[in-house]
Amino acid sequence: MVHTKSRSASRTVPYRSLLYVAPIIALVLFFAHYLFVNALPAIAPDSPYKDAGRPIEERTEDLLLRMTLEEKAAQMALVEKNSITPGNAGYAGVGGVLSGAGAKPEDNTPEGWRDMVARYMEESRSSRLGIPLLYGLDAVHGHGNVPGATLFPHSIGLGAANDPELTRRVAEATAEEVRASGVFWSFSPNLDMPQDIRWGRVYEGFSSDAQVTADLGAAYIRGLQGEGNTPAMLATAKHYLGTGGMQWGTAVNPDYRIDQGTTQASEEVIREFYLPPFRAAVEQGALSVMVGLNTIDGKKMSANKHLITDVLKGELGFRGFVVSDWYGVYEIGGGEYAATVAAINAGVDMVMLPFEYKPFVQNVVAAVQNGDISEARVNDAVRRILYAKFVVGLFDNSAPSNLDVIGADARRALAREAVARSLVLLKNENVLPLFRSPTLRRIAVAGSAADNTGRQSGAWTIEWQGIDGNAIPGATSILAGIRSAAGPEMEILYDAAGDFDLPEDSADIGIAVVGEGPYAEGVGDNPYPSLSAEDLQAIEGLRKVSGEVVVVIVSGRPLFIQKELPKWDALVAAWLPGSEGAGVADVLFGKRSFSGTLPLPWPASIRQLPFTPSGRTADGAMPLFPRGFGLR
Ligand code: GLC
Repeated sequence: MVHTKSRSASRTVPYRSLLYVAPIIALVLFFAHYLFVNALPAIAPDSPYKDAGRPIEERTEDLLLRMTLEEKAAQMALVEKNSITPGNAGYAGVGGVLSGAGAKPEDNTPEGWRDMVARYMEESRSSRLGIPLLYGLDAVHGHGNVPGATLFPHSIGLGAANDPELTRRVAEATAEEVRASGVFWSFSPNLDMPQDIRWGRVYEGFSSDAQVTADLGAAYIRGLQGEGNTPAMLATAKHYLGTGGMQWGTAVNPDYRIDQGTTQASEEVIREFYLPPFRAAVEQGALSVMVGLNTIDGKKMSANKHLITDVLKGELGFRGFVVSDWYGVYEIGGGEYAATVAAINAGVDMVMLPFEYKPFVQNVVAAVQNGDISEARVNDAVRRILYAKFVVGLFDNSAPSNLDVIGADARRALAREAVARSLVLLKNENVLPLFRSPTLRRIAVAGSAADNTGRQSGAWTIEWQGIDGNAIPGATSILAGIRSAAGPEMEILYDAAGDFDLPEDSADIGIAVVGEGPYAEGVGDNPYPSLSAEDLQAIEGLRKVSGEVVVVIVSGRPLFIQKELPKWDALVAAWLPGSEGAGVADVLFGKRSFSGTLPLPWPASIRQLPFTPSGRTADGAMPLFPRGFGLR
């Protein structure tokens, strides 16, 4: 198409002259801003908000009164760390910085994490009012971003263990390792209740049952925040609301199928089923709640004023702050200005942008000046954010603690206990626990997850999507655990593919450790979750050389195995155990008993999805194994 000069061209300022005027305008604006900021009163060191002896409410109000509208707007911005670099004077003043999963420091070690976070904190303290920023990350199964950290079972495994005190201890140990890096905010616990195993985030929830999720979520918050007057850090109850109940095929991201899709549920079901875990979290004192990326009633959750303001803040009395999820505000649509107005008026207090924060600040300032957002709403949002920062001690004592706690033996022992208690025995033709037969001398091991600490850890581990391979520093593979438990007198044969050049019945028993590679979010959406052809072949290879085969499934969810199950002598669901693979052998060899139960139904066919909130199958037929099932 031939581009012709627009009709209005003759009326504009000659283009060439703009080249001279623009820099002058920019310079004038810069100095005007500089003069304005520096014309603001200097802050006396004995200002009430700096006095740790005063009540938090008083400190919050004193600080709020001193803030300009622009400084308030900046406090409502949560920026991912690669979009704001230390030394950039502008970031002094944003409310928070986050490491999206995998957003690591140059020096990806515990020391490197501590030093990176410290730099951001110091820079934020250099702002006019010295408001420390909150650094946040996803410690969803231990401090998973950091190589060498203790990796606990992902939440679905804690749901199988179903012990609030164990969950609290795991969260407490997680907080100790996270705080050692100087980080005060974790985007956990995840209170999603997965109703469809095709979703890539099943393993991040505890259970498909509301009461179990409420109990374990509250326990996790007790552990993460602590139970004293000064929380150890901020927990984040996520994702508000109904994000476990999205319908297959409703994803808005073309690469996904169900993640970030639509939750088709009536307000009655929302209140009866999805709300209780968040009520328990608020009662437990959660200091932040993250709004999900799903849609309800045709509206993105970040724009749902009824559920955020009327229900969460009004009915439940939530006093912390509401943070939106990754880019979720701008997905509301209508352009960044309109979306920002919609989200903040709906009750979002801090916006996980997570990129450009300057346009966001400008939009909030303009919206207040235009009357599209009331200053009272901005004050409420900032008050909530400051309250959380004061109550967690960020203004007074935010020094990182001792890095030696990261990956220390005591925590690994706790993680190993949690692994053992998360295992669910689904079938046992009198072969487990091993060592019952004195003639047991040779064990053959195969499968993609036997010697793969990346698979047993799952995603949200060093990288967003995890690492498929034996690449987790400090971790023990399931195979290594079997070798150690079997002892020197036992011969252990291993071939991932199950390709043993041996006559039939050469081994007394075969153990197939099979399952899924790591995945996160919609990347894990799968129309038919099942075992790979390689793993099925590995099981067949074991059946050739050993009389009996024990199958251990390492996965983030139940898999369709109904056709193969009859050929197996025993079946154990190990979920995503994390770094301490020896916990699996502890139970296989009888050092600990099986105690886990299914946190959600194990379906027998695709027709049974999605489950109903009461744990029944879509077609009403019996699942392969019902929720709550587990042999001893
Ligand atoms: C992701 C997830 C959320 C996580 C956030 C920050 O999109 O939905 O659970 O906390 O981004 O990594």
